Amino acid sequence: MKLWKGRFSKAATSSADEFNASIEFDQRLYKEDITGSIAHAKMLAKQGIIPQEDADLIVKTLKEILADIEAGKVEFTIESEDIHMNIESILTERIGDAGKKLHTARSRNDQIAVDIRLYLKKEIAETDHILGQLLDALAKLAKEHTDTVMPGYTHLQRAQPVTLAYHLLAYYQMFSRDRERFADCLKRVDRLPLGSGALAGTTYDTDRDFLAKELGFASVLPNGMDAVADRDFAIEFINCCAVTMMHLSRFCEELILWSSVEFSFVEIDDSFSTGSSIMPQKKNPDMAELIRGKSGRVYGDLMSLLTICKGLPLAYNKDLQEDKIPVFDAADTLKASLNIFREMILTMEVKKDNMESAAKYGYMNATDAADYLVSKGIPFRDCHEIIGKIVLHCINKGIAIEEMTMDEFKSFSPAFEEDIYEKIDIRNCIKAKKSKGSTSFASVKKQLEDIEKQ
Ligand code: ARG
Repeated sequence: MKLWKGRFSKAATSSADEFNASIEFDQRLYKEDITGSIAHAKMLAKQGIIPQEDADLIVKTLKEILADIEAGKVEFTIESEDIHMNIESILTERIGDAGKKLHTARSRNDQIAVDIRLYLKKEIAETDHILGQLLDALAKLAKEHTDTVMPGYTHLQRAQPVTLAYHLLAYYQMFSRDRERFADCLKRVDRLPLGSGALAGTTYDTDRDFLAKELGFASVLPNGMDAVADRDFAIEFINCCAVTMMHLSRFCEELILWSSVEFSFVEIDDSFSTGSSIMPQKKNPDMAELIRGKSGRVYGDLMSLLTICKGLPLAYNKDLQEDKIPVFDAADTLKASLNIFREMILTMEVKKDNMESAAKYGYMNATDAADYLVSKGIPFRDCHEIIGKIVLHCINKGIAIEEMTMDEFKSFSPAFEEDIYEKIDIRNCIKAKKSKGSTSFASVKKQLEDIEKQ
């Protein structure tokens, strides 16, 4: 039986009912919906809009319905369309007229808006927790690898030697900012839409501040039309998910490369890899690839909700019912990806020796050799050219810069002396970095200390 049947002389076809219904996906908001309704019922009684005993009965029965849903004893129906009307119908079935009073001074438009906001507050708290666990894992790994030397890349070409700790701490910073972004998003989510009615407010003497307090919202949205019409806060949430997925995806891309025979920097644990149905030798980094793939899906969620909202005249439009699919998908995908990713990096084997030997080839100490000549009073541009010629010479001979004899060095510049060998030793190249936030062992130690303080 439709709760809005009064104005209609004909029932919807079953295909229209099915098309219209959102219960299939919005049933996961049952808890938020009941929480919102309990607060609403209490407010109605407090304001003398409905009798206290009706409110008490509503609250008691809603709690029973909640328990029954959690015990799997409730069956939702497409005929009741969405989670709001399903719960209201069950309530009215159980307590009759008192149940019919619950929707006084409320619309499903402010009801769904408060449900999504309650849901997102919970999601943001959970995501924050999982991001915190990932940060701990990264800090732990970084601490184990403060002395693991590896090539740092630009253009995926060997550039300058760094430590693995430095590389990991780069991601630490990215995921910390993701966490900040979620915390900032929460400020916009944490505002109460309930009490706005369908769009124009209500004729009852409601108390929205009381509702905000009951439901734990930091403030009340000041304009009812905005409160029911906009989903900017949900778009922002998906954006936070998308940026975090992008960071995960970059790291996954590296792990995929690093676990190839060509790199052999890491080996992902068997428990996070899969085999091939035809090639017996294969061990594939599927989890990392899936996270990379799923990041594309979350970008799609963002684009989807942006597009759903872009042409909507104020205030509520049924298009907005579609918001839940991308919101749920982005939230679920991110949490699952973060968890798998953390477990995967904590169990992977780091092949330190391979990283270090890769760092020895590729002329990554060339910048340091140039800096050496600068210290002898030669302008940097000239040093750059001299070292460029040295590198070409070494490539032709198939040797590293430090394998040149002193005479060879001198033939390129008389400024070279014996101490050049020490200067361009890979570990010394790392050690010599002086700028704040560099890869030097001391700077990485400081970065780790700062993290620990936070
Ligand atoms: N199921 C709807 C949604 O998710 C609830 C709001 C319906 N409001 C309305 N006026 N039809 O958006």
